Amino acid sequence: MDIRLEEIPQEEQRPLFEDAGKLGFGSIFTDRMLTINYNKDKGWHDASIEKYKPFSMDPAACVLHYSQEIFEGLKAYVSEDGRVLMFRPEENVRRMNRSAKRMCMPEIPEQDFLKAMKELIVAEKRWIPKAPGTSLYVRPTMLGTEAFLGVHPAAEYLFYIILSPVGPYFKGGFNPVSIYVEDTLVRAAVGGVGDVKTGGNYAASLKAGLKAQEKGFSQVLWLDAKEHKYIEEVGAMNIFLVYGDKLVTPPLNGSILPGITRASILELARDMGYQPEEKAITIDEALEDIKNGKITEVFGAGTAAVVSPVGSLYYRDQNIVINDNQVGDVTKKIYQRLVDIQYGRAEDKFGWVHELGRI
Ligand SMILES: Cc1ncc(COP(=O)(O)O)c(C=O)c1O
Repeated sequence: MDIRLEEIPQEEQRPLFEDAGKLGFGSIFTDRMLTINYNKDKGWHDASIEKYKPFSMDPAACVLHYSQEIFEGLKAYVSEDGRVLMFRPEENVRRMNRSAKRMCMPEIPEQDFLKAMKELIVAEKRWIPKAPGTSLYVRPTMLGTEAFLGVHPAAEYLFYIILSPVGPYFKGGFNPVSIYVEDTLVRAAVGGVGDVKTGGNYAASLKAGLKAQEKGFSQVLWLDAKEHKYIEEVGAMNIFLVYGDKLVTPPLNGSILPGITRASILELARDMGYQPEEKAITIDEALEDIKNGKITEVFGAGTAAVVSPVGSLYYRDQNIVINDNQVGDVTKKIYQRLVDIQYGRAEDKFGWVHELGRI
């Protein structure tokens, strides 16, 4: 796939963020984006890296009415010695194609997707922040753009990637978050689309998110849709319960997003001498195990926050504090090993890191 590259004259380039140390999450975008179009006759065509600008779209576009949309989230990093790195991008490409299949959208050949994404990042590399803990967030997205009213898969699609220099996902940085366990509203049911990255899952989560926020919690922990008792995942993270040297996370049952951070931690944990286990666990059992000291730490895991310690779980009028609301040792060690690999500071024995050249 040939990609047209638009040069942006210096005077039209956006001003870079002033202080990378003060970057928030997802509000600044780079000069250019990648777009590729699809229709049934031509397949994927007209790939271009062009100026970041609003799209023009027919008001009847399928995505605006029936939410035929999927996306991904991953990051590019700069190492201390100036290498541009990505962490397991092929896994995001594969997950996006699995999402495409479930949402009746066209898949993108893996190598084309990977190549296009890397070319965009290299073209925009001046935007990758270098301050500790910062990175360039990469957001591939696909929309059904055909104009019609009626429920069937679109015949036309737009695939695009935008880039955003980011700091920490949570304002508090690497500090324990307080989590509200939602026992009424549900995010996704088995057989639905909980295990694919589609916007509707996040729209469905907003109400519980607001409810949690109003009560002073930063995140929601979802329970299963059928019995409202099995732990599933947090807003944008999978969850791990630490039992001494055993790391337990719920199995991929069809309604949980198969996180790439989750999969990486399961592998890393074994390598670090912990015992990872994928096991269904009820909220009652988990809270009991926190109270009786069997669960020593809890943390969330996802691309945006990497690893996020959980300081307390609030469930049905009970607030259960974990590890004195302190960051635990296991959480700290897993986080450190993972970011050291991502930023090219530690040996990458799993072959997870892709090098895209130098800054
Ligand atoms: C609902 C949900 N669960 C889990 C995750 C973690 O997935 P990953 O580690 O691939 O970022 C995310 C973030 O993408 C998410 O949105």
